Amino acid sequence: MANLVIENGTTPLRGRLVLNDDAQTLAVEAAAWIAQRAAEAIATRSSFSIALSGGSTPKLLYSCLAASPYLEGIAWDRWKIFFGDERACQPDDPKSNFRMATESLLGKVPIPARNIFRMRGEAPDLGHAAAEYAAILEDELPHVGSTPPRLDLVLLGLGENGHTASLFPGTDALLVTDRWVAVGLADYEPHQRLTLTLPAINAARDVAFLVAGPEKANAIANVAAGSVPASRVEPETGRLTWFLDTAAASGLPELSSAE
Ligand code: 6PG
Repeated sequence: MANLVIENGTTPLRGRLVLNDDAQTLAVEAAAWIAQRAAEAIATRSSFSIALSGGSTPKLLYSCLAASPYLEGIAWDRWKIFFGDERACQPDDPKSNFRMATESLLGKVPIPARNIFRMRGEAPDLGHAAAEYAAILEDELPHVGSTPPRLDLVLLGLGENGHTASLFPGTDALLVTDRWVAVGLADYEPHQRLTLTLPAINAARDVAFLVAGPEKANAIANVAAGSVPASRVEPETGRLTWFLDTAAASGLPELSSAE
């Protein structure tokens, strides 16, 4: 159970805020929420499309989803797996987001391989790989004309500098308004990335951040101040949800009075 749920607009962060004690209870809470979103999507549209986040925070969440009751309770054959970003490396590289997701979730649940759409971070021409992945999104997801393809859910993490996916401060990928996937530039290895762009993220039905740890408190404060890339995640018509543990939420002093 969440310690605190704050609906839209009553905290400095846009969207709905779900507060938990620590990273483990946060993962349990987020897993239940995702399972519910998936059930709704499958009941109404016969499938559930999700863009997985990379980094380390989501590992606990993915392990929760790969275990009971979700392992046996979720209609995995109706899931379509995409990625929010990928590092420029081989898929079996320890830095690969695809490898992390495979080890913690995709290799443990019965999602048909044809429903897993990997970003080709190993491609020698990342610009071409970005265009190729954008075409996959357009083929696999609902979209009208020149509007962005619509994912059911985009999962995001938050870097200490306020980046999300591979949209880093001061980089060209942040400026893209007419493409769904771009080449990102990280300020740590591997520098070259593939990333969903803001139009692709903001077209989703749901966007959910999963942020844990005291080292993210300052980044959360900067998101609330509107000064970092993650501040620009504002779903056009979809819902934004922040899953925070208490340590990360300490970046929002206003919250301590709300508890
Ligand atoms: C990546 C992620 C990135 C990540 C944040 C937070 O490829 O690294 O997509 O955006 O979500 O950097 O990473 P941690 O969860 O490891 O703190």
